[in-house]
Amino acid sequence: MAMKFLLTCFLLGITFCLGSPVSQSSNCQDGYMDRVCGEDETHLWLDIVAVVDNSKGMTDKGVVTVAGQIVSLFVDGQQLGIDPNQPRTTRIGIVTYNRDATVVADLNKITSIDQLADIVFGALHKASSIADSYLHAGLEAADDLLQRQSFATSRGHYKKLVIVYASEYSGTGTQDPLPLATRMKVDVAIATVAYGQDNVNGFLRQLSQIATPGYNFTNQNGIQLVPELRATMVQVNCYCPNQWFQMRQSYSDESSLKYGVCIHPVTLGATRTAAKLSCRNQWNNAYMINEYTQTKHDFTLQVIENITAFTQPYTYYIGLSYSNGNWQWEQPNGQPLAQLQTWSDWCPGYPTASSTDTAVVNVQSSSSSAKTCWQNTKSSLTNMYVCEVATCDSTNYCTAEKI
Ligand SMILES: *[C@@H]1O[C@H](CO)[C@@H](O)[C@H](O)[C@H]1NC(C)=O
Ligand SMILES: *[C@@H]1O[C@H](CO)[C@@H](O)[C@H](O)[C@H]1NC(C)=O
Repeated sequence: MAMKFLLTCFLLGITFCLGSPVSQSSNCQDGYMDRVCGEDETHLWLDIVAVVDNSKGMTDKGVVTVAGQIVSLFVDGQQLGIDPNQPRTTRIGIVTYNRDATVVADLNKITSIDQLADIVFGALHKASSIADSYLHAGLEAADDLLQRQSFATSRGHYKKLVIVYASEYSGTGTQDPLPLATRMKVDVAIATVAYGQDNVNGFLRQLSQIATPGYNFTNQNGIQLVPELRATMVQVNCYCPNQWFQMRQSYSDESSLKYGVCIHPVTLGATRTAAKLSCRNQWNNAYMINEYTQTKHDFTLQVIENITAFTQPYTYYIGLSYSNGNWQWEQPNGQPLAQLQTWSDWCPGYPTASSTDTAVVNVQSSSSSAKTCWQNTKSSLTNMYVCEVATCDSTNYCTAEKI
């Protein structure tokens, strides 16, 4: 009874905080914008393990707070468990740890929000009397669950997220969590939440090293935590097929916001028509790239600069062409072309009025800088080109075969 009451308080309290989820920034330019990662939180498809420190230092209040925060991640109609008719579901496993780890729920146990609440509030209503807190033990149990129940199963291609709630960082030698976390991070995202205010012995810095860059949080600003973790789930569940580069806010900063756009530069020359058809065949609904914004133009160029088969001076087709009296961008199959809007990057003197120069290439205008600008040209010329496609995310499920 007390538990149910507690849960109700929590859900009410937290729901108010969720009124405005952390909004994703975007480059809105006169109506068209770079695609953001699918934000349908009810259709995330992830395998998550929550790893919760329940050692004495967490305190009873601390563990109950964590329980409320975990449940709050899923209270808005998220699909938990496996549904044979709907691939976009999330599984969550629960691990607690102090000196040793305990698997409270493996990845196949929880199939509804009520069950999640019962299990989480049942396991996390008070802290343990054990003072030791070995994050290594908790991570190892999470890694084991993911290895056995996610990798090498029919959900192998689902993204995996471990959320660590910790009140201290301890362990040396074989109990040091960092080497294990570093190995796991090759194909698992790790988010960390630091409990307690004091930064004893560099606790915050050490815990943030466990996290995937940008996914280290603290409970200090508790109201923000649930929206932050939800935004992290949206970002983790947003990725590109092999061979494609995911657009992000800053090329040099891996932790910067990821967009819902995958880019594939093709280093074989083709005429404009062949390039267009080739993009269509690269991947489900792919098309020649549009450069709606400076951010995307620059990001694409930086990807190309880092591919040795693209030699200078750069010249490559983009998805802009002249037809029916307008400059228009390629779109996914079945959608009408989009008319060129305010941002443009024409080289001085372009576009020319030639009736035959209907294709557009990015051209490196000076040998002293990699900067490129647009020139219209003949579509019969052979050039390298760049394709784009939407990411695999909560609004776009990708089957294992396609990745
Ligand atoms: C996350 O880690 C970075 C790098 O260590 C640090 O600058 C930042 O303050 C941390 N954020 C939080 C919320 O702890
Ligand atoms: C550039 O390419 C190299 C080699 O493929 C890769 O290791 C490196 O991470 C790339 N740089 C960036 C910023 O992506």
